[in-house]
Amino acid sequence: MAHINEKAVARIREICASYASENTPLMMILSDIQNEFGYIPLEVQEIVSEEIGVSVADIYGVVTFYSFFSLEPKGKYIIGVCLGTACYVKGAGPVLDKFSEILGIKPGETTADGLFTLDALRCIGACGIAPAVTINGKVYPKVKVSDVPGIIDSYKNA
Ligand code: FES
Repeated sequence: MAHINEKAVARIREICASYASENTPLMMILSDIQNEFGYIPLEVQEIVSEEIGVSVADIYGVVTFYSFFSLEPKGKYIIGVCLGTACYVKGAGPVLDKFSEILGIKPGETTADGLFTLDALRCIGACGIAPAVTINGKVYPKVKVSDVPGIIDSYKNA
């Protein structure tokens, strides 16, 4: 959407209009855009600002505060490594480092081929199977550093 086309602009205006009766529609509008387009770059924030009269600075503040929203496109596979306390003490740090090393990206980044995004997560409620990793919602239990290459390969060859 970096080259945002007319169809996308029209759709964004339509999403904004659909919440016209709401007093505070910003979160709902941003959620819809995130779900539909996968990210919310500045040029899209400017359109939302025009439509609903909230400043771009305020919209930017919301988009960057909530990890659910993204300024950049996400990869096809979103890898989340839990760094909550239970996972951390069971070795999630080196697991995250291994994903980072193999993929050549830091947490929060996406590989150049658009295949993987790497995220560090807070507790995902699976402490009993720490350290836990999620990929597009699938949970991998008790992940060891030595498991990481195989996990990545299984998605590369999917
Ligand atoms: S700390 Fe990782 S699932 Fe709870």
